[in-house]
Amino acid sequence: MSESVNVSIIYYSSTGNVHALAQAAMEGAEKAGAQVRLRKVVETVPQDVINTRQEWVQHLQDTADVAVAGHDDLEWADVVLFGTPTRFGNPASQLRAFMETTGPLWFQGKLAGKVYSAFATSSSPHGGQESTLLALANTFYHWGGIIVPPGYTDPVQAQQGNPYGTSHVAGGGAPGEAALGAARHQARRAVEVAAALKAGRTV
Ligand SMILES: Cc1cc2nc3c(=O)[nH]c(=O)nc-3n(C[C@H](O)[C@H](O)[C@H](O)COP(=O)(O)O)c2cc1C
Repeated sequence: MSESVNVSIIYYSSTGNVHALAQAAMEGAEKAGAQVRLRKVVETVPQDVINTRQEWVQHLQDTADVAVAGHDDLEWADVVLFGTPTRFGNPASQLRAFMETTGPLWFQGKLAGKVYSAFATSSSPHGGQESTLLALANTFYHWGGIIVPPGYTDPVQAQQGNPYGTSHVAGGGAPGEAALGAARHQARRAVEVAAALKAGRTV
């Protein structure tokens, strides 16, 4: 890759499934030659609710050292990949809360022209992964983003099966090799498109 590309991966995860996809996306982007920032958004759920699930408590502890997303991570990035669990068919409120702080950047046109793509998890197979991904895309349209979905652009997509964005059914356990491979591919493709755009813009 000739153009250097900055990638921010901004995610929310309660129990680690989205985090696992985010890490795979980081691997894919780095392998494609990009500089990568992995960023979580702030947890907003009260501690007594978190304490009702040991996996949630554990995941928060395990990811305590992941930096929290800020506006600088959006400004810096050529590619932003968002990851979220499904919440009643929509993105998690924690991720939405972060996105809804971005008005000043949007107003200055600083979110336009970047490459955006997203990935999601749900507990059940038809539990709303696609509606969640499409809901995130609504915001990318408002930002003037360049949406780069994975489509069926790699053989891994035939196994993983979601052209809207990498997704995983968490009710069946942690993401396996197909989902992780799809996340790597999605990130790599986003980096390649961003590199081509950057190359075109410099001539
Ligand atoms: C409030 C709430 C709403 C949820 N809504 C859905 C849903 O609509 N469909 C579904 O399949 N799973 C739903 N889930 C399950 C989560 O999507 C699932 O636990 C998550 O994808 C796991 O990802 P994580 O390990 O990264 O937190 C919901 C969970 C919570 C707490």
